[in-house]
Amino acid sequence: MYLDSGATSQKPIQVIDAESTFYKNTNAAVHRGAHLLAEEASLAYEGARKKVADFIGAKVEETIFTKSATESINALAYSFGNSEKNSRFFLRPGDEIVVTEMEHHANLIPWQQLAKRTGAKLRWFSITTDGRLDIEKIDEIINRKTKIVAFTHQSNVLGTIPPIKLIVEKARSVGAVTVLDACQSAPHFKINVANLDVDFLMFSGHKMLGPTGIGVLWGKEELLLEMEPFLFGGSMIDSVEMESATWAELPRKFEAGVPNMAQAVGLGAAVDYLNKVGMANIHDHEMVLTKQLLAGLQHLQGVKVIGPTDLVNRGGVVSFVIDGVHPHDVGQVLDQYGIAVRTGHHCAWPLMRKLNQVGTTRASFHLYNTEADVEKLLDAIPLVQSYFKVNR
Ligand SMILES: Cc1ncc(COP(=O)(O)O)c(C=O)c1O
Repeated sequence: MYLDSGATSQKPIQVIDAESTFYKNTNAAVHRGAHLLAEEASLAYEGARKKVADFIGAKVEETIFTKSATESINALAYSFGNSEKNSRFFLRPGDEIVVTEMEHHANLIPWQQLAKRTGAKLRWFSITTDGRLDIEKIDEIINRKTKIVAFTHQSNVLGTIPPIKLIVEKARSVGAVTVLDACQSAPHFKINVANLDVDFLMFSGHKMLGPTGIGVLWGKEELLLEMEPFLFGGSMIDSVEMESATWAELPRKFEAGVPNMAQAVGLGAAVDYLNKVGMANIHDHEMVLTKQLLAGLQHLQGVKVIGPTDLVNRGGVVSFVIDGVHPHDVGQVLDQYGIAVRTGHHCAWPLMRKLNQVGTTRASFHLYNTEADVEKLLDAIPLVQSYFKVNR
């Protein structure tokens, strides 16, 4: 029983078939060869881009394939760090980068490093005791010195969805660029870049029924046009002299080298699958399971939910701790009952410190989970407590 989709989702046969069919029938380097196979490969790859762009309400020019969300964020931070002095992305001592205490390391460390490289200061929103983003000091945290506000669409630990509109409006009012980590949202509910109105957004294919090795970086066209490329080489150029080069049009300016073509095609198939089931249905289903799990956990003695205990502005990721049992031990015993959950710090070490926890046990859902799965987890927790002879 798989309750670890927050880490990576399982893949439908349609996705596996799409990837292997690409290798069997269409394999050639995209955008290069003059032969028919290369053309077919390019059509498949660009077809996948169109599906992904439509999925998030974006233009194809703005939809860049990377290898993962981690790469997307690093690439963005690296590019900002390479900006010319007159660029809006240029950072200098005195400038500020804002993140939150609930970020995955992937949306924290690249900004730490950018701050270090440029002399900018890193600031962050804290969290409240009930696992929400503490926005009380928003006017102080996002101020005229703020250049970048990078934050998560949904916490991978708490399930919390922060007040996006409020943060985006505040960031915009001071001229800061907004970056939204949609790793835990895009796979689970409908997102639309125009409605979110952020400047950049990223997610990984493997958490949304797609393959590993494919991620997305989306940015507003006018900003991508201004941005420096982050990878240089084949395919991303317009013309090349011995001592200089000019860049290709979007999105190829940001896709140097032969890309992860089969993976992109697999992601396209994942998008088809998600669309067919319907993102609203997926979300509703996951919320039913989340409600059931939250209610069940709150009835168990010696068990505490870490994060919001109601369904308001939260998604299908539920963290909990069992008094007297280390999360790794919880995970190991649950595994003996065939239940796969994630345990540990969930790549969010500062958040764990803030919560005063060494780690948590996390159950996370996708469309294939059922109410019986939740029941089985809830039934197994007292068995974990008995095994470790902790009070209930
Ligand atoms: C919120 C969040 N951001 C970023 C990432 C990084 O994604 P990836 O490892 O696919 O690059 C994850 C993965 O767990 C995540 O949950």
